[in-house]
Amino acid sequence: MTRFNMSESEMPSAWFNILPRLATPMDPPLHPGTREPVTPDDLAPLFPMELIMQEMSPEPWIDIPGPVLDILRLWRPTPLVRAERLEKMLDTPARIYFKDESVSPAGSHKPNTAVPQAYYNKMEGIKRLTTETGAGQWGTALSFATAQFDMECMVYMVRASFEQKPYRKIMMQVWGGDVVPSPIDDPSNPGSLGAAISDAVRDCVQRDDSHYALGSVLNHVLLHQTVIGLEARDQLRAAGEELPDVVIAPCGGGSNLGGIAFPFVPDESVRLVAVEPSSCPTLTQGRFEYDFGDVAGMTPLMPMYTLGADFMPPSIHAGGLRYHGDSPIVSKLVHEGRMEAVAINQGKVFDAAIKFANAEGKVPAPECGHGIAVAIDEALAAKESGEEKVILFNYCGHGHLDLAAYDEYLSGRMIDA
Ligand SMILES: Cc1ncc(COP(=O)(O)O)c(C=O)c1O
Repeated sequence: MTRFNMSESEMPSAWFNILPRLATPMDPPLHPGTREPVTPDDLAPLFPMELIMQEMSPEPWIDIPGPVLDILRLWRPTPLVRAERLEKMLDTPARIYFKDESVSPAGSHKPNTAVPQAYYNKMEGIKRLTTETGAGQWGTALSFATAQFDMECMVYMVRASFEQKPYRKIMMQVWGGDVVPSPIDDPSNPGSLGAAISDAVRDCVQRDDSHYALGSVLNHVLLHQTVIGLEARDQLRAAGEELPDVVIAPCGGGSNLGGIAFPFVPDESVRLVAVEPSSCPTLTQGRFEYDFGDVAGMTPLMPMYTLGADFMPPSIHAGGLRYHGDSPIVSKLVHEGRMEAVAINQGKVFDAAIKFANAEGKVPAPECGHGIAVAIDEALAAKESGEEKVILFNYCGHGHLDLAAYDEYLSGRMIDA
């Protein structure tokens, strides 16, 4: 068998909270003005109280609300696929599995958190959400989710992606989202996620009917993504595997990585690997310190690996990985040695993505190609050592709206940043 499906009734009904399972507690986020630990009230202008509580919850499991499960069931559980044709192409003794998150309505893992975020806001009487988007995946996911709850969505899209990816913008508009390029006040600036966050937060705090939604980085976002790893654990067992030897995922703000990897953190034999672009090497070359999540310094200061809040990465095609910071939980796991991090060039990413597309038939998002490239490296290392390694990676999004990037690569116009 190559595809391991689960029935709808086997879908997880609770999220896996890593916080009470960490060896030492997280350092708290700090208020941008006072530099004191933030209180729930400090965050209330931005987020609904349920999400604020999840951000610091000591509960090991948090129930997924019924209306959220109903929507997640439109595409969940997602398949776990054994990449046998890729194994053959590489002539490796490794068994390679990928969790296919590209089957969601928006084409990536992002709706796993967009839906609960929209739901909790709706329950608190909020009518409109503001957000930023890099590659456009998060903006599409939130537009889809707000449409399910009859809410408005205002998306500040990093200008480089806004110009490279017109179809992402149209997809958001199909679901009723409003999309503008960011930074809004500087048309010559290609933008960054940090600048787009500032635009979205500034908009939100000016209106009583609006909250802000973040697509990655925060604890509650990674919590919602743990359905990926929980399902993958069960599906691997159905495939006859005890545990994977290594779990691999790209890391922008850390949400798809946290989603697939956190349920394996307690299994000490399982290696966890974050993959980032060499042009935005937060985990491999950043400093571990308190920093702002945005350029303007409006968000709380978070303890994380950072390249500096004003870092402006080059306009590489994996727009979702162009973030100066990272999830505080992912940062802590890397800092303490529980998780590894590697950085790779986009040339290597597209080379791997095209190999994968030819072997398995699926055209991955450039972000996703980062994980594939390292999964291939692991499989080739297994061939070298003759080990029967079990490799699990997150197929976190398809690249159907990234074909201009493939065109650049295939015609030799891509800069190997
Ligand atoms: C397909 C895909 N993968 C990965 C990412 C990176 O984000 P994160 O690290 O939060 O998963 C993005 C972000 O937009 C994305 O669109």
